[in-house]
Amino acid sequence: MWISDYKYKWHEILAMKIMRSGGYIPRHIAFVMDGNRRYAKSQHLRNIEGHSHGFDKLSKCLRWCLDIGIKEVTTFAFSIENFKRSEEEVKDLLDLAREKFLNIINDEAKLNEHGVRILVIGNLNLLPEDLQKLIAKAMTITEHNDKLFLNIAFSYTSRDEMTQSVETILKLGDELQPEDINERLIEECLYTRHSPPPDLLFRTSGETRISDFMMWQLSTTVIYFTNIFWPEITLWNFLSGIFAYQRASIRLEAFKRQKRLEHAQQAKNCNYYSDRVQLFLRTVDSYRKKVLVSLSTSN
Ligand code: FPP
Ligand code: MG
Repeated sequence: MWISDYKYKWHEILAMKIMRSGGYIPRHIAFVMDGNRRYAKSQHLRNIEGHSHGFDKLSKCLRWCLDIGIKEVTTFAFSIENFKRSEEEVKDLLDLAREKFLNIINDEAKLNEHGVRILVIGNLNLLPEDLQKLIAKAMTITEHNDKLFLNIAFSYTSRDEMTQSVETILKLGDELQPEDINERLIEECLYTRHSPPPDLLFRTSGETRISDFMMWQLSTTVIYFTNIFWPEITLWNFLSGIFAYQRASIRLEAFKRQKRLEHAQQAKNCNYYSDRVQLFLRTVDSYRKKVLVSLSTSN
């Protein structure tokens, strides 16, 4: 189940209400779900059981995000670096993903009822073909939902995302001119092309690193680290992260407004609105769509 039926206690409902009325709620939150194996070890479980508990906690977290009014979640589920783990763990993690994406396809109504749109960001070519197809199907059947945008970073690193962006420009940008190539164009070819940057990054397990996650997108993001292992996260840990964001926002909002203005201004100064660039960007969207449709309809 992707969105848990979390039963709130009365004081949790009160805390959620206070947080909602008390300050800024991040529009977009990103999670680095770290500590699954250390949790498994502490409970004498197999690694994959730690990851499986991690998934269950993600589904609780998504429920909390929906209920507190967060519109977009990006979560780091499988790094390209994770391919270097033992054969057994990689297989188990890919099998877990197969099970969860199949679950979306078989229980389509459920995610649609919650209005969750799934977007998998990452280098799908590195994944087994059957999993690519399941992912493409899960994305296609939820693409009309708009209550919660759920981006799952799977087979992802930030460096690879930037490299793929440059590759897209080279592959599809025959008509582009040297003066069209700039920061804004590279950004527009990232997987997150249609998303605002995360407002809050939440990382568990006491590791205070970014680990090649959304490095392009995090420049104005508040980062919250907590020592708890991901499968142990509670509503109170989640709300502590939101509270840290609310405190930081008091100082950050003016700065972020300024950055948004600069971003809009930059678009005017860098050919972004030229017919040539706009046509290229439409080509990028339709190319990506075509790849998805062909994957999701092939047997
Ligand atoms: C990091 O903990 C977690 C992962 C590498 C996998 C996270 C995956 C899930 C929670 C399942 C999500 C699945 C889908 C399909 C969304 P770790 O393994 O690095 O643990 P450690 O830091 O204790 O070693
Ligand atoms: Mg780890």
